[in-house]
Order: sequence, then C-alpha cells, then structure tokens
Amino acid sequence: MSNSSDFSSLPRPPAAGRPIDPFIVMDVMSDANQREAAGEDIIHMEVGQPATPAPRAARERAARAIAEEKLGYTLSLGLPALRERIATHIQDSYGVRVGTERIVVTAGSSAGFVLAFLAILDHGDSFGLPSPGYPCYRQILKALGFRPHLIDTDDGGRWMPTTEDVDALAAAGAAGLLLASPNNPTGTMAIGTRLPELADACSRQGLWLISDEIYHGLEYAAAAETVLAYSDAAIVVNSFSKYFSMTGWRVGWLVVPEALTRTIERLAQNLYIAPPTISQVAALGAFDGIDELEEIRSRYARNRSLLLNELPAAGLERILPADGAFYLYADIRGLADDSVVFAQTMLRDIGVAATPGIDFDPLHGRSYLRFSYAGAEDEMHEAARRIATWLKTR
Ligand SMILES: Cc1ncc(COP(=O)(O)O)c(C=O)c1O
Repeated sequence: MSNSSDFSSLPRPPAAGRPIDPFIVMDVMSDANQREAAGEDIIHMEVGQPATPAPRAARERAARAIAEEKLGYTLSLGLPALRERIATHIQDSYGVRVGTERIVVTAGSSAGFVLAFLAILDHGDSFGLPSPGYPCYRQILKALGFRPHLIDTDDGGRWMPTTEDVDALAAAGAAGLLLASPNNPTGTMAIGTRLPELADACSRQGLWLISDEIYHGLEYAAAAETVLAYSDAAIVVNSFSKYFSMTGWRVGWLVVPEALTRTIERLAQNLYIAPPTISQVAALGAFDGIDELEEIRSRYARNRSLLLNELPAAGLERILPADGAFYLYADIRGLADDSVVFAQTMLRDIGVAATPGIDFDPLHGRSYLRFSYAGAEDEMHEAARRIATWLKTR
C-alpha cells in the first residue's frame, strides 16, 4: 500500500507551488483523540470549540425541518429570513443598521474568507495579517494564490496592529488588513480608540479592512465593537460556530459593501451553490436560544478567572489576562525552548492537550502555548492541578 506522500500512482504530483501547512490544532486533536480512544484520560484544551451542542431551540427547529420540510437548495446568498434575522442581531448587538442586501450567509466563516478574498484580491496580491493570528488566514490566502503579509505584534500592544502597521502595509503594496478582535490565539481585543483608528487608517490608505468578528459575544471586560460602526467599506466575517455553539453546522455570515454583494453571490453560486439548508434553519432557531448561550458564556468567564488564578500558581506565570474568546496564550520561555515539544510531552505525561504557538505565529510561536478554556469547569481545575504537579516534578 502506498503511503500518503507517495505520489508515484498519480498522473502527476500535486502543485508544488502551493505548499499548505497543516492546521496543527487539528493534528494535536487527532493525537489526543487517539490517546482517548486507547483509554487515556485526556483534557482537551487544544481546540477552539464549545463543549456544548447547539442551543436547544436550534436543534428543535432543525428536527422539525427534517420531519416536515423539503430542505432543497436555498438562494446562494442564504435564506432571506436568516439574512433578515442577522440584520436584526447586528442592530440589537451594536445599534448599527445594515441593509439585508449586504448580508451573505456562508458555509461557516471559513467559506466567508474564501469568498471575501476572491471577491477583492487579484492573483498575487498580498494581505496584512497580524501575527500571532488564526493560521487558516495564511493558508487560505496561499491556497488561492495570494500572499500573506505578516505583521509582527506583541503583548505590550495587546497583540493588536497599529496605524503605523497600516501605513507600512500600504507602503509595501498590500491590498488590506485582516483584524480579529477578540483575537485567536491571544483572546485580546482592540480596545479604546484602536478600532476606529485602524478603520480610518485603512480608508486613508485605500486598503481593504476585513474584520473577523467570530468571537463577538464572548467578551469579559468590555463589549466588542463592530467595524461596521466606523466603515461602510469594511467587510465583516462572522459565524454561528463560537458564541452560538454550532461549530459542526458550518454556517456563518458576511457583511459586505453593497457593491460587492453580486460578485460574492456569483462566487458562492459556483463554489458551493448555497450554505447547508438544515444549518441555516437551525441558525434561525439559535436566536431563540440566547438565555442558554449566555449561561455558556458565564461558564467561559468562570473558566477564564479560574485559569488566570491557577495557571500562574501552577508555574505558567506569563499570561496576559485576555479580554475575550476562550483562549489564553502563555509565554513558556523559562520553562522550555520549544512549545511543540512541550505540548507533545504535556499530552503524553499528563493528558492535557494544548496547541503550540507555532500554528499561529511562525516567527515566535515556539515560545508560546495556547490553552482553550471552552471545556467544563471541573476539567479546567483538573488541568491546572495536573500542570502544577507536572511542572514541579519535571
Ligand atoms: C479567528 C477564527 N476565525 C475563523 C474561524 C473559523 O470558524 P468557522 O469556519 O467554524 O466559522 C475560527 C475557528 O476556530 C477562528 O478561530
């Protein structure tokens, strides 16, 4: 049998010019799952995934639809009722009114990025990505023939880009900036006047601004602001995966300038026809499950406080108290040279799975480890206990 990198049976090798790195989170999860299947007691802090299912209202709506509806294709831009409901959600959350014609339902935010990049970029264009950041931004850009332009950020600036970075991007000929606040893996946010300043700088420099707002709703210090409050030219990417606890349903949305809607519609028609109908129906139901979702959010808040107390006491002292999402990004310098080895050893020795920073930051990631605290409270406590004992005896 041929192994997975033996290309001799293929007509010709896959394109060498498209080297896509693995999404290491998924590789760590696969390793952790194998250990779990073999009977090990694993605490999953590697994946940014709620431990809860979709809210009951979403599941009930989906069950009814399976029993009673045809569930054929929807329009490529999504179910009109869902697009309306998302517009209402934006109005309720931020007091910003956007027309339904600007809203596009997508197959998760992941498809939203593909659509947005294809709609606004030309072959070979580069796009600014703050680093550390969500790894798939880089890989999606590369897979589509565009170029990631990494912007080095640091914890002193809450891992956020600055207006000087925007000027540097423009000088380097980049087409735009992608901002995530709260950010993955750091959980930090653009606070104070940073968001309007970045929006202004992008508009002054004629750059696109894409705002990944997937972690909105999961803030613990101050509420996140939408870039829609400051720019009509920005593109917002969002999803039902995180706050709405619906990762596997693969449904999200874009808010785009109206002039882009038709281009994006044509792309969606050809790339995947329409987002999954059952997931769109469930997403409509999810808006009736806000009380349940707020309880989940309170659990994340408790997990965050618990870990911010217990991890430093356990020996992981250098953690910025992140403002949102469900991540802590720990600086492990002084404990180990390489977070990849550290993560593998920690998983092997004490069954705590976390993700090495190299996934999120090719420059400095070997000094960092990302912990997701989307799991159960008792697991967070147990993870901190295991890490404390382990670090003492290593
Ligand atoms: C910052 C960020 N954006 C986008 C995504 C992709 O989410 P989805 O495609 O499930 O909407 C993730 C997933 O972890 C993420 O962390």
